[in-house]
Amino acid sequence: MPTVTINGIECEFTPGDLVIEVADRNGIDIPRYCYHPGLSRPAQCRICLATFQAPNPRNDNKLEPMMGGKLLPTCVTECVDGMVVEMQSKKTIANQKAVMEFLLINHPLDCPVCDQAGECTLQDFSYQYGRGHSRFTDTKVVSPKKNLGDHIYMYSDRCIMCTRCVRFTEEVTGTSELMIDSRGDKSTIDIFPGEPINNPLASNVIDLCPVGSLLDKDFLFAQRVWFLKRTAGIDPFTSSGDNIWVEHNQGRVYRIKPRHNMDINTWWITDEVRYGWKFVHSDNRLVTPTRKEHGVQVDATWTRAYKQVIDTIRGASKTALVISPTLTTEEAYLLVRAVRSMNENISLFLGPVPTDGEDIEYPNPQAGKAFVQRAEKVPNKNGVKRVLDAVGGGYKEFDTFVRNASEFDAVVMTANFPSAWVTDDLVDALNGRKTILIDTTQSVLCDKADVVLPSSTFAEKSGTFENCTNIMQHFDQAIPNQHDSKSEGQIALDLIELANGGTLKEHAPGFGAQIVDEQPGQVPGASDSILLPRGELYDAKTIRNRMGEDFESLKIVGESVQDAAPEELVESDMELIEL
Ligand code: SF4
Ligand code: FES
Repeated sequence: MPTVTINGIECEFTPGDLVIEVADRNGIDIPRYCYHPGLSRPAQCRICLATFQAPNPRNDNKLEPMMGGKLLPTCVTECVDGMVVEMQSKKTIANQKAVMEFLLINHPLDCPVCDQAGECTLQDFSYQYGRGHSRFTDTKVVSPKKNLGDHIYMYSDRCIMCTRCVRFTEEVTGTSELMIDSRGDKSTIDIFPGEPINNPLASNVIDLCPVGSLLDKDFLFAQRVWFLKRTAGIDPFTSSGDNIWVEHNQGRVYRIKPRHNMDINTWWITDEVRYGWKFVHSDNRLVTPTRKEHGVQVDATWTRAYKQVIDTIRGASKTALVISPTLTTEEAYLLVRAVRSMNENISLFLGPVPTDGEDIEYPNPQAGKAFVQRAEKVPNKNGVKRVLDAVGGGYKEFDTFVRNASEFDAVVMTANFPSAWVTDDLVDALNGRKTILIDTTQSVLCDKADVVLPSSTFAEKSGTFENCTNIMQHFDQAIPNQHDSKSEGQIALDLIELANGGTLKEHAPGFGAQIVDEQPGQVPGASDSILLPRGELYDAKTIRNRMGEDFESLKIVGESVQDAAPEELVESDMELIEL
């Protein structure tokens, strides 16, 4: 295989590879601003320049400086066998210092109040490659703040004109809302009058911006990024299986960011995935179990509520179990087993599968792969169907349940949707049925149900989602269960324990110890210390293995599931000092 030597490290490459790509694969740092692997390469910021030598076949293959010894951009130069690239030569370092000085001429020194501080490559490279002081004594050009769209503020004077944002709207979304206005040091990124940037992928430009110029209104001044932890997640709002980071601190989610996966979402996510998490901390969350007494809902302990659930299911001649396609595959499996352990005579239904229009493709020749916004607005229809087929021996669609609900005297209904989902038809269908509702937020059904069990959102649990192309991916629990909620998986395990004559033990779910942040300046985080009665603790991996042991056709779940990336701190290069 041909090789190239970068900073003294010999690296293999495939013909056509760029120097910067090979360096990235081999963990060699090359600074960059305009380069992004998912966009075209204008090579305009000049921070990635290096000295190049290559064997000259006309001179006995002796190493000779390329292009007469001029610096060349590593982001557009393809590797040649035997090439030697030096990012640490005197000339290269002088270029890096010059570029940094140039970029910082008009850049305000407002890092302490800038939202990007801690994840800003201008800040990082200024430490790594810049000078310690500024020689600029003239007045800086001051540019205004602008409102570019529903989610995006622009701090114009922080812009370094890398044009990533403009290229994204031209090359990926094809919407071209952004443009460069004016020339020279007066150039500024702007929208066309009255045409905000609100396309379905708009907020990816916030992630692309290497400085604090394009900022997320939703996250503005909400949290310093170095206090955040990121947990690997999977899009819980559509059938895309997009890889995400759930970023959180002290038991609260603060934002969702895309996680790179070339097989699925490449570098991007839609705004609907990015901002759909608000219901996790909504005032509308169900906080404790309730049961209907004399026609009104009253708070109940978990033990009391479980007793009523078991009595209801055991006493019913025909029970319907509606499994929501928002639940994990493991939870679907456990719920079927739990209800079956109380009453063999159950009928299984898949919960509602909302859709919105058609799938929308965003072709990206640069990435060689289109990004797709999915029309189906649930994450795990395929995983739930797989379980219902294997364990339940078949199921019927939600419409059939609504039409035939009168056949059942008891109904166990799961939901966990991020927005309103109950229809009038459903309310009518449940009239006169003993209803056990397992859900996350208040709805009109909560008043009607005989027992309401508060369940946990995607951020408070782990498990597997199988996307619309049948890729099964595991995701981790990011934050503790909110209020007195439990995951549907835990609820099912508790019910199995009780139905088999066991007892529940009062203990925390074992997640609390991990949530206490220990960085300087932080108060210990919220921990899942609420002592709730629980049976066997829900652990997605254990359940996956059990599924495979119990049902040959479910072995594939344990075998094919892709593990989540490990939890990370959102690292800052700055040293934190405890005051
Ligand atoms: S706003 Fe950000 S992404 Fe856009 S050109 Fe300026 S620095 Fe680059
Ligand atoms: S990253 Fe190579 S010139 Fe900008």
